[in-house]
Amino acid sequence: MQRWLLATVIAIPALLGTPPVNAGAQDIVKVGLVQSMTGGLAPVGKQVTAGIRLYMQQHGDVVAGKKIEIILKDDTTIADMGKRLAQELIVNEKVHILGVGITPSAMAIAPLATEAKIPEVVMVSGTSAVTERSPYIVRTSFTLGQQSAVIAEWAAKNGSKKTVIVQSDWAPGAEATAVFTETYRAAGGEILETIKVPLANPDFAPFLQRARDANPDTLFVFIPAGQAGTFAKQFVERGLDRSGIRLIGPGDITDDNDLPGMSDAMIGVVTAGLYSASHNSPMNMAYVEGIKKANNGLRANFISVGGYDGMHLIYEALKKTRGKTDGDSLIAAMKGMAWESPRGPISIDPETREIVQNIYIRKVEKIGGELYNTEIATLEAVKDPTKAAKK
Ligand code: PHB
Repeated sequence: MQRWLLATVIAIPALLGTPPVNAGAQDIVKVGLVQSMTGGLAPVGKQVTAGIRLYMQQHGDVVAGKKIEIILKDDTTIADMGKRLAQELIVNEKVHILGVGITPSAMAIAPLATEAKIPEVVMVSGTSAVTERSPYIVRTSFTLGQQSAVIAEWAAKNGSKKTVIVQSDWAPGAEATAVFTETYRAAGGEILETIKVPLANPDFAPFLQRARDANPDTLFVFIPAGQAGTFAKQFVERGLDRSGIRLIGPGDITDDNDLPGMSDAMIGVVTAGLYSASHNSPMNMAYVEGIKKANNGLRANFISVGGYDGMHLIYEALKKTRGKTDGDSLIAAMKGMAWESPRGPISIDPETREIVQNIYIRKVEKIGGELYNTEIATLEAVKDPTKAAKK
């Protein structure tokens, strides 16, 4: 165990290619990252840390006179591991800030953040309830509800009447289904069936057959980042692209990470997402280029921006507190912060500590020989609908 832990603690100065830290302890701000570098959601860990690294390359590692030291730990896509590692980061490493990833780990770590009064910046999780688990949680990723409500409205307005839902069976999937179902029904649509697919190593073929047998006009699908390539392949192999059933979903099904490897059968698929690699802004062009260069041609996706923006939030909060690192000061500084991200304008809702962002309706198109999510409409400053409904 000990050996394993040592092996997975990557001292980030080395990872970032920066010289070792010489500063005194009070001049260092320690950021402990708990991300999924291996296991089922390893593609998520790769993207989010690519975003974090790029932000630090572009902005340096000294903020408000303090040196930022990153300690990255791998939760192996397992919540209990995430919790144990966060505990170790807090107690042994005495980190000032946690940068956390997937929903199960973010939830497991929440009580530790509360107890230690340490900000938990959530950079991946898309489950609404996460930010309610601790007053020290701030999110820079997204919620599935934000995207699912928007695509439900769009589908209903564009002739969709009968939908089958295929959902990865864990918290963000349940949320995608709940919000889609509610919004779609309110707009007059009917849900024929909700089919749950296991999170680990899914074989989509039998579920797709079942979905097809229900004879819907629309298929709403949530699967997490990293599974879109496999899903698209099985979708086409089953002939669903030629079935007349329209495929829709949150941005995860046309993940930029996997899109270049998908077949042209995906052209025309419409999703509601927070980020597209083809988002037309100078900042995003530089972002996509930066991620590509530093990661062997990797295409930036919606997960990576959560890491990039998470670092921005940490840097700007430290500037505002003039380097003060206590959790209460940092959280107060983070509330209400607004800035431009590679995805477009974003802010942190001061009441809920939840991200507010544009949600784009996108259509898969082939541009310069590669598939992209072309943004065709923008819904501005979308709040998490699950929290809005509770108020
Ligand atoms: C999550 O951890 O909530 C999560 C991860 C990957 C996704 C969506 C949600 O694509």
